[in-house]
Parts: sequence; C-alpha cells; structure tokens
Amino acid sequence: MKRRDALKIGALAALATTVASAYDEKLIVNKQAMSIKDPANPTEAELKHSPEITIGTADKNGFALVEVNIGQKGVLHPSVENHWIYEITLFADGHKAATVSLEPKTSRGYLAARIDTKSVKTLSAVARCNLHGDYTSSIAVV
Ligand SMILES: [Fe+2]
Repeated sequence: MKRRDALKIGALAALATTVASAYDEKLIVNKQAMSIKDPANPTEAELKHSPEITIGTADKNGFALVEVNIGQKGVLHPSVENHWIYEITLFADGHKAATVSLEPKTSRGYLAARIDTKSVKTLSAVARCNLHGDYTSSIAVV
C-alpha cells in the first residue's frame, strides 16, 4: 500500500469516528420558532434560551470579535445528555455569517466569529434547543 492510500484510509477512519460520535437526530423534538411573550419581563425559561450577542474589538483588518452565549442575565442554558443547544446561527443584516453545531454534555451554547461589522446594521442569532425550539435575539451595531 502506498503512503498516499494509507493517508486516505486514515482520513476516512477519522471522519467515520467523528460521524459516529454525533448526537441522535431523534433527540431534536422541537423546531418551532419561539418568541418572548412579554419582552419587558422575560421569564427565566425565555432568558435561558435567548442568545446574548456581544461585539468586541476589531482586528487590524476590521473584523470584530462577535460572541454569542445562550442565556441572558446569567441564566445559562444547560447542556446535558437529553437537553442542549444543538445549533447556533449568526446573521449579519439577515445574511448567514456563521453557524456552530454542538454536542450534548461536551459543549454548551456558544459561538464566536470574526465579523466585518463596518457596514452591518443588525446582528441576529438563532439558538436551537432540542426540546424547547428556536429563539432569536438581535442587536444594533453602532
Ligand atoms: Fe432548552
């Protein structure tokens, strides 16, 4: 076997291992878009699912560090075997900018990306909880 063929087999084996460790899609039981019933007085469950978007400093090329934590006012969403944030998507003026796929237990709701925010007016993030649905938050970029 040539070295190149061995490397290909090794790469395929690594990919198969990665796929095998992914969560069971059957655990995702709610894909409904949820909304905060009273935005002035969100419930603890609503705070727990709402993305909190922060914009940090820009690098020398103008890309600002944007971080998304799931949970607001210190109420963080859990990440346990049967209840977790399985995906977060960040949008810049409605255009998809970044997505992260998360595994239960081993990672909790968090996304970070460097975004060129110079001409962006709004950043939005959607947090997808396997049990409680999809929650969206937005902030203005100033
Ligand atoms: Fe949840």
